[in-house]
Amino acid sequence: MKHISYSKQTIDDSDIQAVTEVLRSDFVTQGPQITAFEEALKRYLNVKHAIVVSNGTSALHLAYLALNLKGYEVFTTPITFAATSNMLHEVGAHVHFIDVDPLTGIMEVKALEEALEQANPGAPKAIVPVSLQGIPADLPAIYALAKKYNAKVVEDAAHSLGGEYSYEGKNYKSASCAHSDLATLSFHPLKTICCGEGGAVTTNEDALAEQVRLIRNHGLKALPNTYLREQKAWGFNYRMTDLQAALGVSQLKRISFFLGRRRSLAHRYAEIMAQEPYRDHIKITPLCEGSSYHLFVIHFNNLQARDFAYRFLKENGIETQVHYVPLYKFQLYKELLGEMHLPGAEAYYQGCLSIPIYPNLPQEDQDYVLDILAQCCQHL
Ligand SMILES: Cc1ncc(COP(=O)(O)O)c(C=O)c1O
Repeated sequence: MKHISYSKQTIDDSDIQAVTEVLRSDFVTQGPQITAFEEALKRYLNVKHAIVVSNGTSALHLAYLALNLKGYEVFTTPITFAATSNMLHEVGAHVHFIDVDPLTGIMEVKALEEALEQANPGAPKAIVPVSLQGIPADLPAIYALAKKYNAKVVEDAAHSLGGEYSYEGKNYKSASCAHSDLATLSFHPLKTICCGEGGAVTTNEDALAEQVRLIRNHGLKALPNTYLREQKAWGFNYRMTDLQAALGVSQLKRISFFLGRRRSLAHRYAEIMAQEPYRDHIKITPLCEGSSYHLFVIHFNNLQARDFAYRFLKENGIETQVHYVPLYKFQLYKELLGEMHLPGAEAYYQGCLSIPIYPNLPQEDQDYVLDILAQCCQHL
């Protein structure tokens, strides 16, 4: 039987050569590849600072620590990977979950505005939108609200490297921080580019970048012309290695190919699933030209249909995923926030299923997925 994952890294000989060269060099960590990767990311994103780190979770932790969010009221979404809000809790922020659009799973600006309106006007505030699936959140609208309510903004762009949006006639990249204070990226193998594990924090603000760099490396600052160092902040070892950075540089060179393949697979899925037998049972997330198509999320009419489809595809060798169960359903979040029920998040969760999409997915495998999905629809 076939086995098709919902996502998979794309490694070629040039990646292997790049990593091998580092293995043969003098530096396997904290060497020249770190700077090369940071410079390449800065150019690609058109952002002033890119600080590469050990993974997307440490990137979030560092961004929150740089803003010193302890005691802040922070508004984020429950439809995300747990790291987004776990790290908020970790730094001592008060998490508030805002409802999402039932098809994209992205934070609803109107719901955010209502929450900001109701929040204590004197409390420090921050907003963490997630550019879910690869579709940039409505960053210009969120940033405008942040200015109005004096809130900080961190974009969780783990899914959306390569994603773009336009505003007032100009194009911006997700994680460019044109409409946020900081953004975070992940280079986990299933993301747009792969470093094994890896992440980055981006910002246009010098002081925030300096703070992220400091905390990335134990909070220790080297004093000039001496062996002495000063403990300037409480920090961690969140450094990336040169092996990972070399892979990142090599992968970033091929990002247009990766994005192009993902886009064309998404368009083909959408075109075919607009027809019988799919269309009565499956809605797709509306195509978005600026998406990096990290995920391709389809929606069934209800939880029973979605769960049936998950099992049916699995029995036929196709791995799918639910991105995500609303975080407020987890016991620890219930203890923290009490029972919650957000209608958009519930609707999104009950229908959603991420089906296979990755650059090297062969057309015959996409056809197989479509064929099994068509068979599944006959049973619904
Ligand atoms: C939205 C989101 N944020 C953060 C992360 C954390 O990234 P990492 O796995 O690199 O720690 C992930 C990982 O899947 C994610 O999906």
